[in-house]
Amino acid sequence: MKILIFGNGYIGNRCKNVWGDDAVLSTVQIKTANDARQEIELHRPDAVLNAIGVTGVPNVDWCDEHPHETIVGNTVVPILIASACQDTGVYLLHMGSGCIFYGDAPHEDKMWREHDFGNPIPTYSRSKWAADLALSTLPNVGIARIRMPIDHEPGGRNLIDKLSKYPKVIDVENSVTIVEDMIDVFRQLMEKKATGIFHVVNPGVMRHRDLLSLYREYVDPSHTNEWITNDDLTALGLASKGRSNNVMASDRLSEHGIVMRPIPEALRDTMQKYAQKKRSDV
Ligand SMILES: NC(=O)c1ccc[n+]([C@@H]2O[C@H](COP(=O)([O-])OP(=O)(O)OC[C@H]3O[C@@H](n4cnc5c(N)ncnc54)[C@H](OP(=O)(O)O)[C@@H]3O)[C@@H](O)[C@H]2O)c1
Repeated sequence: MKILIFGNGYIGNRCKNVWGDDAVLSTVQIKTANDARQEIELHRPDAVLNAIGVTGVPNVDWCDEHPHETIVGNTVVPILIASACQDTGVYLLHMGSGCIFYGDAPHEDKMWREHDFGNPIPTYSRSKWAADLALSTLPNVGIARIRMPIDHEPGGRNLIDKLSKYPKVIDVENSVTIVEDMIDVFRQLMEKKATGIFHVVNPGVMRHRDLLSLYREYVDPSHTNEWITNDDLTALGLASKGRSNNVMASDRLSEHGIVMRPIPEALRDTMQKYAQKKRSDV
């Protein structure tokens, strides 16, 4: 299978590194549907992965100050790429985000389902939800929503690196995505040309406390941090808007026979591999 990846960023490069010669990572700046179509016609892929996004530097709060750039990157460009894929008859897997959901879902188990309507407030989350609303109407398109990627490769976008550097951390419960598992699921979704929305999160919930406890066990026993509440995050000026915390169900992955490892198992394995990488990088 040949995969064309749009989005030469964190996730695009992680996927390219795993898929090797099966994937081409586009470096073209997409401004029109024709830009995307030319790349598709040049590389003739079996599937396209859209990992383009405007995620904000140093974090998503940037997006609230730059709404136009954010909407273009997260809503307009995905529609342009989808349009090129529709014209050329190529399957598209678009990367969505679970941060379109804030708080508990309106179900007894409080878990958000793929068909639930988002309730986003910040610009980044709204722009991602807007793309989901549009793209989910199209045939031959899959949307893979991920949450807080946790990776055995150290790096600034990895939740392990982020949480271990913060002196004050909120202790909340969330769905999360182990990157190794995510890359495998993306591939399966593309091979199946699976359409509609998928929650690419590992089964179970994780507290930030669980991650940092494993960090102390495998990486740095001397690590310390202060615990704060979600409300403290904005009250202390550590973020301009509250972050999305939620738990998502992955019913549609199960329907397609796609299984991700339960989070306790996947998190421990990832932290062990992360610790090995850290030691070999020294
Ligand atoms: N990482 C996460 O925590 C996370 C969580 C949930 C969902 N996601 C979604 O996953 C996707 C990938 O995220 P990521 O973490 O890999 O983000 P990233 O590292 O910021 O990569 C996004 C890439 O898209 C590129 N890009 C933006 N506009 C473009 C355009 N018009 N044409 C071509 N390239 C363009 C950016 O290039 P420049 O840097 O040159 O602008 C950047 O290389 C995004 O859609 C994001 O919303 C990420």
